[in-house]
Amino acid sequence: MESPFKTIRSGSFENGDIVWFPEGGLNASYNCVDRWAYTHPDKLLRGVSSTANILKAMGIKQGDTISDCKSRAIATKAIVDAALKECPEVEHVFVQRRTGNTVAWTEGRDKWWHEETLKVPNYCPPEVMSSEDPLFILYTSGSTGKPKGVVHTPAGYLLGAALTVKYVFDVHPEDKFACMADVGWITGHTYIVYGPLLNGVTTTVFESTPVYPTPSRYWQVVEKHQITHFYTAPTAIRLLRLLGSVGEPINPEAWDWYNEHVGKKQCAIVDTWWQTETGSIMITPFPGAIETKPGSATVPFFGIEPVILDPGNSVEGILCIRNPWPSIARMVWKDNNRYLDTYMRPYPGFFYTGDGVGCDEHGYIWIKGRVDDIINVSGHRLSTAEIESALIHHRGVAETAVTGISNNLTGQTVYAFVTLKPEFTYNPNDEGSLAKELILQVRKVIGPFAAPKKIIIVPDLPKTRSGKIMRRIMRKISAGEGDQLGDLNTLADPSVVGAIKAKVATSS
Ligand code: WTA
Repeated sequence: MESPFKTIRSGSFENGDIVWFPEGGLNASYNCVDRWAYTHPDKLLRGVSSTANILKAMGIKQGDTISDCKSRAIATKAIVDAALKECPEVEHVFVQRRTGNTVAWTEGRDKWWHEETLKVPNYCPPEVMSSEDPLFILYTSGSTGKPKGVVHTPAGYLLGAALTVKYVFDVHPEDKFACMADVGWITGHTYIVYGPLLNGVTTTVFESTPVYPTPSRYWQVVEKHQITHFYTAPTAIRLLRLLGSVGEPINPEAWDWYNEHVGKKQCAIVDTWWQTETGSIMITPFPGAIETKPGSATVPFFGIEPVILDPGNSVEGILCIRNPWPSIARMVWKDNNRYLDTYMRPYPGFFYTGDGVGCDEHGYIWIKGRVDDIINVSGHRLSTAEIESALIHHRGVAETAVTGISNNLTGQTVYAFVTLKPEFTYNPNDEGSLAKELILQVRKVIGPFAAPKKIIIVPDLPKTRSGKIMRRIMRKISAGEGDQLGDLNTLADPSVVGAIKAKVATSS
């Protein structure tokens, strides 16, 4: 079920024509499902085959893109119905019965999945695809701007997914792997679906939320299914301990908690850095082989060559990658099918990640957050993560998001948005004293120059569905540009924006 390649890699960032294994042919589904099913028969192959056959029966072929067409629950069906008002080209919606509730129905368009599967054969022979055919298009979270559709291709992407699951997570055939991400996010694609299946390992799809019906939900799943490997985002870890967030880099406190309470100090903890565009994990410890340091993603994965560019007068700068790796995304969908423009700018010849990083004396890499989130106060370069980390030490703080506002005198000043722990009590008419305590905290931990000019206590922070804090929203609102927030569709709960605007308007 494949044809051999001759060339390993060709093309460059400058020319935007990177390909891996160009003459090769393969089939993603065969590699993930069929070849395991023949030796360990189970239902997955039949399900995948019927799915393929239904799509074929509907005339869907290679290259067609389909709007979300499988509905998991009533809420999802309602969302799909609303979205389809704007997509008249969509002909059919396949609805899978999950909750048993009644759903709105458009006769002729909507079809029950279980009825359609009865009409098609149970087996679908895989077909050989070219190594550089599109495998999937994924829209980035939009935490840093307009979401863009990123295209991954089979050969290189599958290699990245398979290798990282094998070496970063050290999986063995009898293991039970659980990645608690949304399957619609890159983490879900690479580490719920492709990576574990390519390794023939049992994978877990979790559809609920980590706090329903109890905050122990994750650990109940681990116990019930005898999970051996658990992969999740810091947001979820912090949520479970009902403690605050410092942004996307995991703060050492959350790391220690994960180690002590979840892993009982018996588990390897891997803090993995990567992006939708990179397809698979890029910077990570290798369990048992690389000593970890809480808060650092440690060292590059095989073949990855990180460089820190524009370091100014310190070892901190912008993380770039020197050479293409197999699972790099190929292009931006429908944007004239251009290759990722991030390849090209602003450092020609390097892949630009947009993340600020530091490197310590042992060569360990410390991710500081998006460069748009780096603040420059009177010539001091500060990462939002650093200031947030200082604030989180205050006993009342649950989560914080720090942003920089331009200032004629100092370059930028620091605004800190803070949510409080539910059990923390204070006098709401005297937010001033709490703000003073928090400012003092930052002065103590980092220094006077880092002290926030404003502390804004808010009920909630704007986050994407994958749990990333969207600082650009706070930045715009603080800069008086609350009417130019752009696309808010990727927000988990758009209503928090109004509450933040109101709070900023009244805070002195
Ligand atoms: C951030 C998610 C610190 C980073 C897989 C990156 C991290 C962005 C880490 C990509 C980490 C991801 N430590 N920051 N271990 N992992 N990030 O495309 O800013 O949704 O650029 O992919 O998440 O987000 P994306």
